[in-house]
Amino acid sequence: MSTDLSGDWVRLRAAAEEASERAYAPYSRFRVGAAALVDDGRVVTGCNVENAAYGVTLCAECGLVSQLHITGGGRLTHFVCVNGDRELIMPCGRCRQLLVENGRPDLQLLTPLGIRTIDEVLPQAFGPTDLER
Ligand code: THU
Repeated sequence: MSTDLSGDWVRLRAAAEEASERAYAPYSRFRVGAAALVDDGRVVTGCNVENAAYGVTLCAECGLVSQLHITGGGRLTHFVCVNGDRELIMPCGRCRQLLVENGRPDLQLLTPLGIRTIDEVLPQAFGPTDLER
């Protein structure tokens, strides 16, 4: 997939928008949908799922990463997330960490400021190699 706003980004964004419609967000009323392309061409998606115990809320990225593993694993290469108004949003800090763990090192994100790499949105990330000794 190219780095300009190609049809693939449009397709991925549409998948995120569709996922946002499945969000369970009765407390914040802030729906989130996320979609990513996997290095074998699969598309995985997720929506946020809130809980009466607010802190237990699952971000859309949690569902996406679970779907990644359930459907065969691999590495994310392109990622986008949107709110319920179909606007691009940034993944929260914790979910950037999920993307580091499950993304290819050159993972690209479609952000409100354009296309950015994972290293640009989470510089000097703590990651699996930090556990090597
Ligand atoms: N949320 C996500 O699903 N992903 C993010 O990266 C940002 C925040 C959700 C969590 C909560 O249900 C709602 O947005 C408001 O914070």
